[in-house]
Amino acid sequence: MNTPTLPPTAAALSGRHVLVGITGGIAAYKSADLVRRLREAGAQVRVAMTEAAIAFVSPLTFQALSGAPVRHTLIDADAEAGMGHIELARWADAILVAPASADFMARLAGGLADDLLSTLCLASEAPLCLAPAMNRVMWKHPATQDNAQRLAARGVHLFGPASGAQACGETGAGRMLEPMQLVDALGQVFASERLAGRQVLITAGPTREALDPVRYISNRSSGRMGYAVAEAARAAGARVVLVSGPTALPAPAGVERIRVESAQQMHRAVFDRVASCEIFIATAAVADYRPAHPAEQKIKKHADRLSIELIRNPDILAEVAALPKGPFTVGFAAETEELERHAREKRKRKGVDLIAANQVGNGLGFDREDNALVVYGEHDVWDLGTADKRELARRLIERIADALEKRGTAP
Ligand code: PMT
Repeated sequence: MNTPTLPPTAAALSGRHVLVGITGGIAAYKSADLVRRLREAGAQVRVAMTEAAIAFVSPLTFQALSGAPVRHTLIDADAEAGMGHIELARWADAILVAPASADFMARLAGGLADDLLSTLCLASEAPLCLAPAMNRVMWKHPATQDNAQRLAARGVHLFGPASGAQACGETGAGRMLEPMQLVDALGQVFASERLAGRQVLITAGPTREALDPVRYISNRSSGRMGYAVAEAARAAGARVVLVSGPTALPAPAGVERIRVESAQQMHRAVFDRVASCEIFIATAAVADYRPAHPAEQKIKKHADRLSIELIRNPDILAEVAALPKGPFTVGFAAETEELERHAREKRKRKGVDLIAANQVGNGLGFDREDNALVVYGEHDVWDLGTADKRELARRLIERIADALEKRGTAP
């Protein structure tokens, strides 16, 4: 018998930690071959099974193939003393549940964590991939379709199902993909994660500079651009810390957010974290000046005129860019005129690797869903076009990954 060769995408699995989840279904017998192929591709594999899966295949089979003990109970004193379930969730670079039964998909869609595997899926920030396998009528059922859509909308990768003859004797959609197809699909997930394993620090939103206990100077930044960049970096596999000025936006999933108010607080939060980051993206609209002497009590309106003395805030981006052995730096330039000239000049003056220029004012840039960006490097220019901020953020992250690869610092 010929041994099938691994697909080219399998190369992206080398050294990765893959947690294979197995739920109850006859396709579970194919998961043994899947574990074998993943190991051939150079992945480290751990297996977690549901109780229903154990009725179909023995954990011992998977222990032998993965080379590690198989977990199936949530409360397991021996296992918790070694690699506990939260550590196992953290250990995984990806979770691949194959086969994923209709019941398991429904529990995931509902956010349940009532057994080990569903808990691991909920407790992990790694990409979650499901290989559905079930009778064709169950797959077609509106409840299962609805669950599949809800999961996909949350970023869960669905591999298959395929169509064909089923173990139940029927023919239709619901077959689990073949192990090699699953290896290929998982390889593609890793290959698309261009910032996998990178630490990215991002600033977003406005800052508020206190005049007195109830008033401040600020700007029109909503935080949307910076939050979109954080989301895109996370989707590209990075570990993301977002230092955010005051906004009404929820933190993107899987992103650690540190809330600050003033430029000085943002400066402190950035310098607390900058040593461990490899990429710094300054999207925040940081106030360049702050009141020199904020009043301790509310300022009373006695005089016809009031002057406020302002002093310079620290330039966070320029200071990060000047660090010896500092991170790759990406700034934003918000300009109301002569966009290219000011952006290029700002990039040079602040000493940053790339600067993303956007026209602002007259309803552009700030506090809206879309934007237009042109990115300037020392030698390169990329026009990212006009688009929704999330799409622009995705394009920006691609350019950053290109620039890092070009410079030869790929992970
Ligand atoms: O938040 P939104 O409503 O989505 O709007 C998005 C945006 C227009 C705010 C965003 O796209 C943007 O342009 N952000 C940068 C705004 C800005 O302050 O630009 P600047 O040209 O003044 O500053 C240049 C760069 O230096 C920026 O990366 C800024 O974060 C950084 N900077 C500026 C001053 C300072 N004291 N510290 C800094 O780090």
